[in-house]
Amino acid sequence: MTDRIDPKAGDIYRRLWRYVLPHKLIATIAVIGMAATAVIEASLVYLLEPLMDEALVAQNLETARWIPIAFIAIFIGRGASGFATDASLGYIGRSVISSLRRDVFRKFLTLPTRFFEESSTGPLLSRMTYNVEMVAESVTHVVTVAIRDVLTVFAAITVMLLQSPKLTVFVAIVFPVVAALVGVLGVAFRRYSGRIQDSIGEVTQVTEEIVTGNRVVKIFGGYDYEKDRLDEVDERNKKQNLKLIRVRSLGGAVTQIIFGFGVAGVIYMAGLESVNGRLTPGQFISFFSAMMLMLQPVRRITNVNATLQRGVAAADSLFMVIDEADEIDTGTVTVARVSGHVEFRDVSFCYKTEKGAVLDHVSVSVEPGKSLAIVGHSGSGKSTLVSLLPRFYDVDDGEILLDGTPVRDYALASLRDNISLVSQDVILFNDTIANNLAYGALRAHSSEEVLAAAEAARVLDFANDLPDGLDTVVGDRGVLLSGGQRQRIAIGRALLKDAPVLILDEATSSLDTRSERRIQEALNELMRNRTTLVIAHRLSTVEKADRIIVLDAGRIVESGTHAELLAGDGQYAALYRMQFSEE
Ligand SMILES: Nc1ncnc2c1ncn2[C@@H]1O[C@H](COP(=O)(O)OP(=O)(O)OP(=O)(O)O)[C@@H](O)[C@H]1O
Ligand SMILES: [Mg+2]
Repeated sequence: MTDRIDPKAGDIYRRLWRYVLPHKLIATIAVIGMAATAVIEASLVYLLEPLMDEALVAQNLETARWIPIAFIAIFIGRGASGFATDASLGYIGRSVISSLRRDVFRKFLTLPTRFFEESSTGPLLSRMTYNVEMVAESVTHVVTVAIRDVLTVFAAITVMLLQSPKLTVFVAIVFPVVAALVGVLGVAFRRYSGRIQDSIGEVTQVTEEIVTGNRVVKIFGGYDYEKDRLDEVDERNKKQNLKLIRVRSLGGAVTQIIFGFGVAGVIYMAGLESVNGRLTPGQFISFFSAMMLMLQPVRRITNVNATLQRGVAAADSLFMVIDEADEIDTGTVTVARVSGHVEFRDVSFCYKTEKGAVLDHVSVSVEPGKSLAIVGHSGSGKSTLVSLLPRFYDVDDGEILLDGTPVRDYALASLRDNISLVSQDVILFNDTIANNLAYGALRAHSSEEVLAAAEAARVLDFANDLPDGLDTVVGDRGVLLSGGQRQRIAIGRALLKDAPVLILDEATSSLDTRSERRIQEALNELMRNRTTLVIAHRLSTVEKADRIIVLDAGRIVESGTHAELLAGDGQYAALYRMQFSEE
């Protein structure tokens, strides 16, 4: 993964801000709504003074009449401003979530194969769900606090000053002490936020593995092992969350106690003021209510840093993915249809430097329309060799040429347009058989063409027996089909693509000899006008290849036609005799 300097929280928030920016108008409504809420709430507590002193104590009829009307107006206003705030903030929150999620998803589509091999699925998935929500929650929370709560505090202070400047000064001394104490507790939050997200990722990972691997778990008695594994990550997650809860609730309790002392002080001072005739009951009620009105906002303001940090940590984990380097796609050559001359020129490759070379100076070329078979022991580098042609990985040394042009010089899309692939592990999507055949760019094909491909790949042989035929849904990764059926769909997909270069990596390994023979006819037909790289353990399927190479630990140890290799009496001949005697 790309090395990356740790960005500052400010940078992350600036970057998040860009996701909010397109919704300026809605954001303005939210700000107006929040400001209105603050002013309206303060007016409410301000009106308690005339309500008490004039309407109730002095029994002034005039006031007794307009006060209820004012209260109705205030509550309507509060309802309206509350709705405007919540609806617009909610809108912005959901919009940020969806654009972030799309950015991460699009990134997943263009990241190099290596990225997925080096990252675990769980954390990647939890980023798409948990972290994205967390970011939006944190953004809206922080914005609410920064605007509504801060304004509410100011408005409340204004009311307090109007009712009793002296008491206000007293509160101004007590409150900062409370706030400072609470702030100290808030610092403890920051340390836990990052790790909690990771342990959610672990929970997702373990769960996903047992869901997908439930058969292995069952037959190999993985019950206890998996149970312990989940218990462990779940325990870790629980402990971290409990720690967070303890810190948070302890903070709350301590705040309450400290606040209690503060309130007692204010009440004492109010008593003194009242005795001296400087404070009416209405002024006191209004003052006290304004102070209470401040309480929640102040608490949120002092805690906002924790939310901010949590959001920053979650956003950072998303931006980390978004900042990953895409597949290198600097080539500019585009060809509608190559003639299909493939050449590996002195190609070396390793997955990880420390694990050593997987391919070691491999040189081989295939004329257009000819076939090259690659045989060799398991792990000798066959799949690796063919995966370099569509540039799932880039070579470390040497060059791969397609029609004489290095594959790196092609625009990736154009290069891949020219290559069809049936890979060793067939990946189907949870969709119908027809849609799996006509996947992606192949969607453009007519249903007749899809049917023809299904016929040629012998997909119809089994699809016709299914109640929905080609419209049968195959389940996650194709679990509702047999291995051979999945393979036939993959072959059909490759047939449909009709690319000049074809890669068959153990394309028929899951089929019985009879089915294989029948598909082989279709494949032979297909291979006729195409450059084909074919990998097979069953040598009967590679006999007819124009050329066969034998790979051993990443080196070509033999090369020639079937007859030549048999005559050479080397590894190939030995392998062949072994399989022949078995049959
Ligand atoms: N994605 C990967 N990351 C790291 N190492 C890998 C990766 N894929 C394969 N290898 C290693 O590279 C070597 C060659 O693997 P490769 O899949 O090319 O073998 P193969 O000849 O296709 O074997 P098989 O006949 O079993 O399919 C093996 O030692 C394997 O462990
Ligand atoms: Mg392989």
